Amino acid sequence: MNNPESGNSNLKSMKALVFHGKGAPSLENRPIPAIVDGSDAIVRITTTTICGTDLHILKGDVPTVADGRILGHEGVGIVEEVGSSVSGFHKGDKVLIANITSCGRCHYCKKAMYSHCMLGGWLLGNKIDGTQAEFVRVPFADSGLHLLTPAMDEEAAVMLSCILPTGLECGALNGKVKPGDLVAIVGAGPVGLAALIAVQLYSPAEILMIDLDDYRLSIAHSFGATKFVNSSDGRASERVMELTHGAGVDVAIEAVGLPVTFDICQEIIAPGGRIANVGVHGRSVDLHIEKLWSSNITIATRLVDASTTAMLLKMVVAGRIDAKKLVSHRLKLTEILKAYEIFADAAKQRALKIVLRNACEIENSI
Ligand SMILES: NC(=O)c1ccc[n+]([C@@H]2O[C@H](COP(=O)([O-])OP(=O)(O)OC[C@H]3O[C@@H](n4cnc5c(N)ncnc54)[C@H](O)[C@@H]3O)[C@@H](O)[C@H]2O)c1
Ligand SMILES: [Zn+2]
Ligand SMILES: [Zn+2]
Repeated sequence: MNNPESGNSNLKSMKALVFHGKGAPSLENRPIPAIVDGSDAIVRITTTTICGTDLHILKGDVPTVADGRILGHEGVGIVEEVGSSVSGFHKGDKVLIANITSCGRCHYCKKAMYSHCMLGGWLLGNKIDGTQAEFVRVPFADSGLHLLTPAMDEEAAVMLSCILPTGLECGALNGKVKPGDLVAIVGAGPVGLAALIAVQLYSPAEILMIDLDDYRLSIAHSFGATKFVNSSDGRASERVMELTHGAGVDVAIEAVGLPVTFDICQEIIAPGGRIANVGVHGRSVDLHIEKLWSSNITIATRLVDASTTAMLLKMVVAGRIDAKKLVSHRLKLTEILKAYEIFADAAKQRALKIVLRNACEIENSI
């Protein structure tokens, strides 16, 4: 199969996880990507992982992803080649790949809203081929890559490609979490757990975690959440109101991406509260303005900008954030189909982040 992005007539191919519409993806041989623009870098992936957003893509929730796209927007690797205008990175550098691509010059980049960069944004594993492959082309490499020391733990680093900046930016910062706040996080998947780590930087009084899966709730307990609601009986909002003595919560972070979980946020938000939506939604939800019009609440939405990645990297390196505890499984990149099955069946498999290591055995396609 030809990669439409690659002008590489190289006979060598790589393994890549390819989207073919709603349903199961496939593991295929694809040409190794080549430099297209001077700002590009080609990175040999050493570690990648799967995001809840990849599951949304496979459910058909993200229409921008075309048939034939290599998925993945998280990765750590070694720079293989850089374009003529890349000045900050060189062949052999160990790098973290941010999920967001930014030109640094456009209207939105000037406002630090990199997710809406007019030449970039969320490209990897969405509009261009992504990181669930042995190699990836990273446009605007000077802004999209972060230099890692050779000794940097790759499992910890790969948590910084998407989920930790997402938890911080879309969850804690958009929810304007303050000391003493009562915070609820709906969804204890890796992103909800990353939000749990992030909100604790702002000293809330209580953190209520809501999920269908008791195992993930127990992980949330070990990560510092203080109250827990299993929502499988459909009574999560009632339970939260009981637990807060009828007050509701100051901040409700939606980290699932379903109408039912956004509804929970609308039902439990206290007057003056902030709903921070993190989940990727494929369906419309009803806004209960008939109840909320007088509640002085704020609803914030955000595609992660990866504007906090460098700061979070410093905190991980300094040991202030233990990113590695988000990892539950370790497999080879060539076992990625199995990894998708495990991640999609997370409750039974007790799965959080599944780290995929690339042994990088390049095959000849002929
Ligand atoms: N806004 C952004 O920029 C951004 C970035 C990354 C991820 N996301 C989104 O964040 C969301 C979470 O990602 P993830 O990797 O943690 O996904 P995940 O699928 O691993 O986790 C989702 C969690 O939601 C729980 N859940 C499902 N239905 C529920 C219900 N009715 N009540 C309570 N909990 C319920 C599941 O049990 C699971 O633990 C996804 O929608 C993902 O697309 C958004
Ligand atoms: Zn992601
Ligand atoms: Zn831009």
